[in-house]
Amino acid sequence: MAAEEQFPPGELAAVAQRLEAAGPEATLRWAAETLGPDRVAVACSFGAEDMVLVDLWSRVNPGGQVFYLDTGLLFPETYGTRDRLLARYPVTVTRYAPRISLEEQAEEYGDELWNRDPDRCCGLRKVEPLARALRGLRGWVTGIRREQAPTRASAQVVEWDHRHGLVKVNPLAAWTWDQVWAYIREHGVPYNPLHDRGYPSIGCRPCTRPVTPGEDLRAGRWPGFAKTECGLHR
Ligand code: ADX
Ligand code: SF4
Repeated sequence: MAAEEQFPPGELAAVAQRLEAAGPEATLRWAAETLGPDRVAVACSFGAEDMVLVDLWSRVNPGGQVFYLDTGLLFPETYGTRDRLLARYPVTVTRYAPRISLEEQAEEYGDELWNRDPDRCCGLRKVEPLARALRGLRGWVTGIRREQAPTRASAQVVEWDHRHGLVKVNPLAAWTWDQVWAYIREHGVPYNPLHDRGYPSIGCRPCTRPVTPGEDLRAGRWPGFAKTECGLHR
């Protein structure tokens, strides 16, 4: 039975309400038990929120699935964080790469597509690989939080992802940035060292700059463009 059939309209909303009160760990446990321990995966960018999720996921569902979308343009510090995650947590990590290399992309679309048409670049390097990563899954787990952006303000702890046709689990939807960091400190969770250098939100190298104190946490993403989302969550 498809997950959608299992959750008639209204039912996921009720589950979301219950799980929001129960917290992220209970949310992840529900996901593994209800959707199947191998049929739900954490989408990990190796940012602070996702490291919290992997820490919880490794305990709730040891050996559980985690995937990352490797655009080929991540910071060296992000790959270093991936390696620390691999060394520490008993999870199964899968890498999804774009169908075309950076060289092929430059040949076909010209140099530095991200400077001219970031939507197309994200489409090739993130959105298409995400669709492949989600194939065969009944749910995916993300680190999105409501306070991150107006586009995320209505995110539910669990919701039906109409675009991809599976359950989207956002265990930290209600959390603040301070709660994320309190968890990291309390549990000694490894994190991307760029967070200590003014990068609250970390994506690809060409499209991420540090922010200054008082600036919005996502102000450093796609500077110079009106773009605020890469297309994974819209
Ligand atoms: S983005 O859409 O602007 O890039 P953001 O960096 O805030 O998203 O991340 C939000 C969530 O999307 C992360 O918590 C993670 O679940 C997922 N995500 C973002 N980038 C990746 C990636 N490269 N690989 C896997 N998941 C990702
Ligand atoms: Fe391309 Fe920038 Fe999107 Fe990365 S974030 S895929 S470099 S446009």
